[in-house]
Parts: sequence; C-alpha cells; structure tokens
Amino acid sequence: MKITKICCIGAGYVGGPTMAIIAQKCPHIQVTVVDLNENRIAAWNDKNVEKIPIYEPGLSDIVAEARGRNLFFSTDVDAAIDEAQLIFISVNTPTKTFGKGKGMAADLKYIELCARQIAKVAKDNKIVVEKSTLPVRTAEAIKSILDNTGNGVQFQILSNPEFLAEGTAVTDLLFPDRILIGGDTSVEGQDAIQSLVDVYANWVSEDKILTTNVWSSELSKLTANAFLAQRISSINAMSELCEKTGADVNEVARAIGMDSRIGPKFLKSSVGFGGSCFQKDILNLVYIAKSYGLNEVADYWEQVIIMNDHQKRRFSSKIVQTLYNTVADKKIAFLGWAFKKDTNDTRESAAIYVADDLINEQANIAVFDPKVEADKVLTDLNYLDTRTADKNKEKLTVVPSPYEACANAHAIAVLTEWDEFVTYDWIRIYNSMQKPAFVFDGRNVLNRAEMEKIGFVYQSVGS
Ligand code: UDX
Ligand code: ADP
Repeated sequence: MKITKICCIGAGYVGGPTMAIIAQKCPHIQVTVVDLNENRIAAWNDKNVEKIPIYEPGLSDIVAEARGRNLFFSTDVDAAIDEAQLIFISVNTPTKTFGKGKGMAADLKYIELCARQIAKVAKDNKIVVEKSTLPVRTAEAIKSILDNTGNGVQFQILSNPEFLAEGTAVTDLLFPDRILIGGDTSVEGQDAIQSLVDVYANWVSEDKILTTNVWSSELSKLTANAFLAQRISSINAMSELCEKTGADVNEVARAIGMDSRIGPKFLKSSVGFGGSCFQKDILNLVYIAKSYGLNEVADYWEQVIIMNDHQKRRFSSKIVQTLYNTVADKKIAFLGWAFKKDTNDTRESAAIYVADDLINEQANIAVFDPKVEADKVLTDLNYLDTRTADKNKEKLTVVPSPYEACANAHAIAVLTEWDEFVTYDWIRIYNSMQKPAFVFDGRNVLNRAEMEKIGFVYQSVGS
C-alpha cells in the first residue's frame, strides 16, 4: 500500500516527536497527530513553537518546519483515522493499579479504546501500528477487536517499538541504531511491513531496518529495556559495595566499560533509574513470565526493580543518617526533579521517592529544576498519596532559582544530571548555607575535589 496519509493516536512523549520527524523527513506524507487531551493539542499548535508541551532539544525547530505543511495536530480523532492508510497507536499504557496484575501488568484500557474507535470509523483497509510498549501478544488482541467489530474492512497489525530515549529523542529518531518492524508472515502482512519500511527508508538505510514476526518485535522492546535497566541496577549494586570498601564506582565503571564485550554505556551509578519505561516494562516482563509459570525467570528480572527501589531508599537514608539522624524541620535543597537531564518528564523520577522519604522524616524541601513546572512537582508527590496535598505543599516548595533553593539549606541533594549544575557559583551557594554544608550528589556530576576545597562535605553515589 502506498502511504500518503498517516494518523498517530496519542500526542505524548513518543507520538509527538516520532511524528514530527516522519513529517520532516517525508514531506510527501500528511501526518496528523490526534489526542483526546485538548490542552495538549492546543499546546502543540501554539503559535510560539517554544511552548509545545514536550521539551526535547531540537524538537521545536523541526515542528516549526513541518507544522502546517504536512504535520497537523488535532482533536478530531475520527477524521484522522478515516483519512489515513497507516495508523500509529501511541497512547499511554500505565501499570495496572487495580484488579488482576495490579502493580505489574500493563493497563491496556487505552489501547483497547483506540482499537474499538478504529474499528468503528474505518471504511477502507488500514495498517495499524503498535508504537506504545505493550505486553507480548497485544497485537493479537488488537486484531481480534478490529476483525470482530469492524465494518468488514481488512486490518494488518504491525509492531514497531520505539527505542528513543527522552532528552535525545531527536537524534535517536534521526539516527536510529535500528528500526524494528514485526508483522504477519502472510503475503498481506509482508506487504504491510514493506509499506512501513518504505516510510522509514526515506532517512534510514535499509540495513538498519529489521523485520521480524510480531511477537519477536513485541518481546524485543521489553528485552532491550530490561537489559538496559539491569546494567544500571548492576552498577548500583556495586556502588553500595564500593562505599563500604573504599573503591570508587566511577573507576570500576571505567575499568569494566573498556572491555569491549561490556562496553562503556549505561554504567553510570545513580540514585536510581526513573522514566516511564524501565520499571513498567520489567514489571510487565515479570508478570508475563509468572503467568506462564516461569517463576525463576520472573524472580531474576524482578531483582532489577528491587535493587532500584533499594538504591532510592538508600540515598534518602544516607541523607538522614549523615545529618545526625534527624532532618526534622531542616531545609534540604533538591537540584533537579526530572528523571534525567534535557527533559521535562518526571514520570517515576527518583526525586519523587526521595522527597517522600524525607518528608516522612519531617524535612522541608526546596526544589529547583530548569524545565519542570511547579505544579508538576506537587502533582507527582500528591500522586503517591502518602499525605494530604496541603501537607505536601507545606513541606515542599518549588523555587525559580538554584540559589534560592540552597539559601539557608542544611544539605543539597542532586537528583538530575542537568549540565548547568556544574556552572553554578558554588562559593556563593556555600556561603548561603547552614554549616557544615552537605552535598549528596545522586548523579555524580560535581567534582569532589572542587567541592571539598570550597568547604562542602561532599558525598557521591558509590565512593
Ligand atoms: C529508555 C530506553 O533507553 C529507550 O530505548 C526506550 O525507548 C525508553 O526507555 P528513557 O527512559 O527515555 O529511555 O531514558 P534512559 O536514557 O534510558 O534513562 C532511564 C533512566 O536511567 C534515567 O533515570 C537515567 O538517569 C537512568 N540512567 C541511565 C542511569 O541511572 N545510569 C545510566 O548509566 C543510564
Ligand atoms: P508516551 O510516553 O507513551 O508517549 P504519554 O502519556 O506522554 O505517553 O502520551 C499518551 C497520550 O495518549 C496522552 O496525551 C493521552 O491523552 C493520549 N490518549 C490516550 N488514549 C487516547 C485515545 N483513545 N485517543 C486519543 N488519545 C489518547
């Protein structure tokens, strides 16, 4: 099928940037991104392109180039489905918070609603592409809904997982390590795969486009994220041992990373990984394994999460212990709230859990993050449901400058590795703080020798 019109359902962190790049690289294809959330669509359409709802380096320029030409953002979901030959489903798939699989399985409610809407609206054959991370065999469920509730038209379901990392989404999309497309082995399935290959081939060389069966593609996404998260939990496990033995985890990481079989990436010890994918995908993997009775497989992967939770809790405990076993009514400055630098996304950020622990110890927290909005910080904390929103507001404030966050603080906790943190006037910060002035560097971004020379009591993760 020759693709001239694409629809993407879901204008979030995946759908928005991915469609912006497809539109930029394929000016002959009309790309419409739809979402039920009117505010989000209005923000994508904001005249001031800097106000698009997702912050990603380089993204606003690409949106400025393609928007109105062949890239459109709309709330008219039905019209976009009707027109398109190719429909990406890019809606959220949170971990279930109720019922069977609670806290582990993915909630496929939004996916199912999309499938039903496509079935209702479609009047001609369509290719439907799973873009959200999904449990293995979701494609089968989508197919069943489409085939049984549709208007007699033919649907081909493809799995095309997204491997972009937030903060580097534009580069990852422009220069992907690989594109993975899973489809049916039938002639129609292979035709559908080829249609999607042809879209990507506009900017990705064909040797980087892998085609597989649907289930391999679905499972590969979960596997990739599980392996990446496992590396972080592995190095974080070593960080605790380093702190006890006098080894330095950064030196250990460098030493093992030079082994070409191990490689240097994803060995940065930290306060713990966050983000919308790692935890959700591993829990999903654990749930799938358990549902097949593969308890050893499930337990093996669950340790990655257990280690990550431990690392977050260990960080907050260390702060309390070091501050003479009490942080009650002390001011702790948080530098960073996002789950990593160069994004305004805070989903599952370690900062949320560290703040929650410290507020349980009655600390007062002042947060500064260069990109995260104040409302978001409090919403994240309220979502944990540990205490009332009023209490959270009393104990945590969000301030517009790092100097304000640190003034009179007993300690600073670095929760995100924003580049700008190293450029601050640290002498000024030191002079404004209570003494001894502690810094707990949860991202190992500051220079120990320089910090200690100024007078800070500096603690990193893993040394
Ligand atoms: C991840 C995958 O990398 C991506 O391929 C997939 O499509 C979605 O999930 P993302 O969550 O956006 O991407 O960011 P990533 O760079 O993987 O970082 C995840 C978390 O791990 C962050 O909190 C980051 O700070 C942390 N991290 C990463 C470490 O603590 N140490 C590292 O060495 C690397
Ligand atoms: P991701 O990181 O996977 O992109 P987000 O939560 O950022 O996740 O984005 C998912 C988007 O999908 C949200 O903006 C949500 O409003 C949208 N969405 C969910 N269900 C539907 C639906 N049935 N139709 C249209 N949009 C939907």
